[in-house]
Amino acid sequence: MAALRTATRLAAPYRAAALRPSFAARSYATVTESVETGGKSTFAPPSQTSTVEEPKKDPEAKIKTFHIYRWNPDEPTSKPRMQSYTLDLNKTGPMMLDALIRIKNEVDPTLTFRRSCREGICGSCAMNIDGVNTLACLCRIPTETTKESRIYPLPHTYVVKDLVPDLTQFYKQYKSIKPYLQRDDPSPDGKEYRQSPADRKKLDGLYECILCACCSTSCPSYWWNSDQYLGPAMLLQSYRWLADSRDQRTAERKEALDNSMSLYRCHTILNCSRTCPKGLNPAKAIAEIKKSMAFA
Ligand code: SF4
Ligand code: SF4
Ligand code: FES
Repeated sequence: MAALRTATRLAAPYRAAALRPSFAARSYATVTESVETGGKSTFAPPSQTSTVEEPKKDPEAKIKTFHIYRWNPDEPTSKPRMQSYTLDLNKTGPMMLDALIRIKNEVDPTLTFRRSCREGICGSCAMNIDGVNTLACLCRIPTETTKESRIYPLPHTYVVKDLVPDLTQFYKQYKSIKPYLQRDDPSPDGKEYRQSPADRKKLDGLYECILCACCSTSCPSYWWNSDQYLGPAMLLQSYRWLADSRDQRTAERKEALDNSMSLYRCHTILNCSRTCPKGLNPAKAIAEIKKSMAFA
């Protein structure tokens, strides 16, 4: 599998590090360097660029160019490259996912990306669009046609193909936090574990997480230590269970986080909260965990 990337919108202390060439690692197909332009990081010119244009030209057309990261595991010796596509926005839906689907259906069926719900629920269309980790289905295409769009897989992930990141480690970490209710006592009525409205309210801002990985893959600490640091998505999920009045394994859950890597690699850089396409605040959840550990 290949890997790309340095992400964009980095906090200042990390920008310099991120602009260095990426490191080699297991079967990376290539590494690329990023170049800073106008306060935003973009990637160096690709080794190959090809353009696929809309077949018919219309004088009223609003033609916009999309540069999309391509890499095919069936050609392991070929480096990742950018491919350019032009679409008429008058014939394309308003969202980035509409553009990708139109390219795949009408221009280039080899383009590969994940999507399912197309309404910000499944989390599968997470990618880096114009320098921001977000969901393609919730990201409007900027209507300014002179501004070209650049689409990459989520930063610092291995790539399965084109825009599809390998989230194996992410899901392994999810499993490790035991994301389910753990109790020893049966419910009083033998049916339901009830909760007061006030206790239920404590889960707001946590249960809505769709595990898209936009936050974790924007976190510099997670880039460098994702083998041990849980990252913002998993820590928000951990807090979701710590904050649940019905769960009886609070002490065990805290103990699992009480080491130098799982939790304390968070340095409050806040990329995670800035990028979450669902408007959640993983950094606040992390701060709550740290507070509860400090005052336990
Ligand atoms: S906190 Fe937000 S960005 Fe992170 S995984 Fe959940 S929904 Fe995605
Ligand atoms: S606040 Fe913590 S988890 Fe969020 S981006 Fe910064 S270091 Fe990562
Ligand atoms: S397609 Fe489901 S979140 Fe975008």
